[in-house]
Amino acid sequence: MKLILGVSGSIGAYKAVELMRLFQKNGHAVSVVMTRAATQIIAPLTFATFAPGKVFVEMFTENQDPLLHINLSKENDLLLVAPATANIIGKMANGIADDLLSTLFCAFYKKVVVAPAMNSHMLENPAVRDNISRLQSRGIEIIEPVDGLLANSETGKGRLPAPEDIYRRCLDVAAVQ
Ligand SMILES: Cc1cc2nc3c(=O)[nH]c(=O)nc-3n(C[C@H](O)[C@H](O)[C@H](O)COP(=O)(O)O)c2cc1C
Repeated sequence: MKLILGVSGSIGAYKAVELMRLFQKNGHAVSVVMTRAATQIIAPLTFATFAPGKVFVEMFTENQDPLLHINLSKENDLLLVAPATANIIGKMANGIADDLLSTLFCAFYKKVVVAPAMNSHMLENPAVRDNISRLQSRGIEIIEPVDGLLANSETGKGRLPAPEDIYRRCLDVAAVQ
């Protein structure tokens, strides 16, 4: 399958590299769209080393297809956002398109899988819960975060699940298309 891995600015973004490698090792073609916040947490070069020419951050930049958000959505079978911040989930739930990843989501008309990852208090925030429910009610597959040690050394629900678990859920979703 051909998929887009959307990476947003959660501390769990480092796990997205392993996730990308897992898809690639199993014969899937991955393009990566990072938010600017994600690039503060993990370098685009880390992804680009394994996916040369397939890592995108900006909407408006030279030497890039000006209609990238439209063409990526045509060319790919699935959009996986992992990890998904409270912010990108809020934008997706409300049709806000102010960067490449959120604009691509608005243009995307095939299967979407979202793996939220955040501090447990953020996850319990009613606005965040509502936004996740809204996405789910529109047919978007939500991979719930798991319990464990969080970035602030507390334990709670909010961690990105293991790359293998996200990978398997995506295959299941793609199989029922
Ligand atoms: C070190 C660090 C870790 C962060 N981890 C998370 C996180 O796991 N989940 C989350 O929702 N926001 C997290 N944030 C906050 C987001 O980066 C921030 O809300 C940002 O605006 C998200 O932008 P994006 O959705 O465009 O990537 C973190 C911020 C910092 C500085």
